[in-house]
Amino acid sequence: MKTIVSTLALGIALGLASTAGLAPAGAAPTAKAAVPTAAEADKFIADATAEVQRYSDTAARIAWVNATYITDDTDWLASKVDAQGTEMAVRLAKKAATFNNTPGLSYDTRRQLDGLKLGLTLPAPDTPGVADELSTLSTRMKSTYGKGKGTFQGKATGGNDLEALMETTRDPALTQEIWTSWHKVGAPMRPDFVRMVEIANQGARDLGYKDVGAMWRAGYDMDPDAFAAMQNKLLNQLMPLYTELHCFTRTQLNKKYGDAVQKKTGPIRADLLGNMWAQDWSGIYDVVAPPGAGTIGYDTGELLKAKGYDPVKMVKTGEGFYSSLGFAPLPATFWERSQITKPADREVICHASAWDVDNVDDLRIKMCTKVNSTDFVTIHHELGHNYYQRAYNKQPLFYRGGANDGFHEAIGDFVALSVTPDYLVKIGLLDPAKVPDASKDIGLLLRQALEKVPGMPWTYVVDKWRWGVFSGATPPTAYNASWNDLREQYQGIMPPVARSEADFDPGAKYHVAASVPYARYFLARVLQFQFYQAACKQAGWTGPLHRCNIYGNKEVGAKLNAMLEMGSSKPWPDALEKFTGSREMDAGAVLAYFAPLQVWLKEQNKGQQCGWSS
Ligand code: ASP
Ligand code: SER
Ligand code: ZN
Repeated sequence: MKTIVSTLALGIALGLASTAGLAPAGAAPTAKAAVPTAAEADKFIADATAEVQRYSDTAARIAWVNATYITDDTDWLASKVDAQGTEMAVRLAKKAATFNNTPGLSYDTRRQLDGLKLGLTLPAPDTPGVADELSTLSTRMKSTYGKGKGTFQGKATGGNDLEALMETTRDPALTQEIWTSWHKVGAPMRPDFVRMVEIANQGARDLGYKDVGAMWRAGYDMDPDAFAAMQNKLLNQLMPLYTELHCFTRTQLNKKYGDAVQKKTGPIRADLLGNMWAQDWSGIYDVVAPPGAGTIGYDTGELLKAKGYDPVKMVKTGEGFYSSLGFAPLPATFWERSQITKPADREVICHASAWDVDNVDDLRIKMCTKVNSTDFVTIHHELGHNYYQRAYNKQPLFYRGGANDGFHEAIGDFVALSVTPDYLVKIGLLDPAKVPDASKDIGLLLRQALEKVPGMPWTYVVDKWRWGVFSGATPPTAYNASWNDLREQYQGIMPPVARSEADFDPGAKYHVAASVPYARYFLARVLQFQFYQAACKQAGWTGPLHRCNIYGNKEVGAKLNAMLEMGSSKPWPDALEKFTGSREMDAGAVLAYFAPLQVWLKEQNKGQQCGWSS
């Protein structure tokens, strides 16, 4: 993710023009009041820019210290400054709405005003003390997640270590222990979460939205309902591929563990998939890949270990990729100020994030990096945020954000798609004699599919659940049941042990505990392939898509930069068109990438009863 505060400045910048449904009751000018002028609007934008920058200079540093050193005191500081930010952003949103009927506004003033109206993730009503209460709840949930522990073989173990153990543990009794113990982290958050929903919904209604979910969906330069419909359409494009992968994976798990652990039909047990949330199954590649066609012959994590890479060298390697595209090296302060490995002596939030502390070039990442292939990809992901942030740093402050938040999440993942065998040879990680030949394409694609495709229904489910919660369609008494029902319906997975409303499984996922909207990751799953397909075309690549790497291609780098430096100054279809030539998000590139695998999976699945509904 990109962190909230680096963007609290620019939560605001992230908001995008969409006035659909906006009629801020409390703030709209009365019929008799004079409509404020365009000159007043320009001045308001200039003043708001200065105020937000001033706020962000302090807030981002406090948030950084809190995330990298969790104590009661840093929680206190973070809540306090977060509450100030909420109050400021609500005030600015309401003021922005007073210019709704102002004639003669310039394009940029109109767009920045519209962005300000959408600037907040969790709004609060004006009632004194309520913004403070909301911030206390948010900070407490996030820190509870950061400090959370489960167990492994009875020993207390942090979330970051448990995530890594999920990838490598093959004993179902132990994966069940990891899964079950970690999911206990959610339960204590439930009352805070319920109250947070109440407060933020009231705040959203005060700003003229039905609820917080509707406000989140309004941030995409399109009608909120049209946005939901676009997501549904994309998911429908992807489900046939997911269903084949699910079917094949289930068969392999059944072969390995037997009927008592994993049946041949129905949902898959969530803890057998190599990931705490079953969102990335690449950890069990060795279990799923059939001998022969399925094998690749190397594992990136093993290569990194064999060559003695440490986390810093992994990050340097990631930087090297961006440098090869023509991006300037990361600033010296990046290396001085980032948290690249987990500090030994204090509680921190390990969930990876990228920061732009001064909204110019105080770029940092915060990770608890391990030497494995998942973290190698995550490094490229986080750096993608940092290079994006620096590329748009000459835009007006309120445009320093992604074309939409899905773009921000997609850049680094797009770059990491170029981590192909040929690329690994180029940087000296893979012995040229070990490059898998064309007969191993299925193996390579299967490895990539396990990493990327399960995330498609998963990233859809998280906010489908939250939208239901915010709209009231899902009451607190059904929070956990709804979460697990959606997981079963779309992902075809089930918890290893019975769940009840005494549990709060969503809280065991960082982005729920930390209130980071999640639709962005769904969009990014689609966009990264669109970017990659376009880049490979620009590079003149004619081979199988998944073998293409753009390492060293400065022309592609320059085109990418042209899109990145736009920030959020134009509606996202303009940015997409600039790099890909298309104005539509479309899953066609995903399907083209995996096409040979999909054919192969279909063949393997013959005779199986694919799907999982009973
Ligand atoms: N931090 C990244 C995300 O939340 C990548 C990851 O943690 O998997 O976007
Ligand atoms: N990085 C995001 C997550 O960890 C999306 O994959 O959930
Ligand atoms: Zn990210």
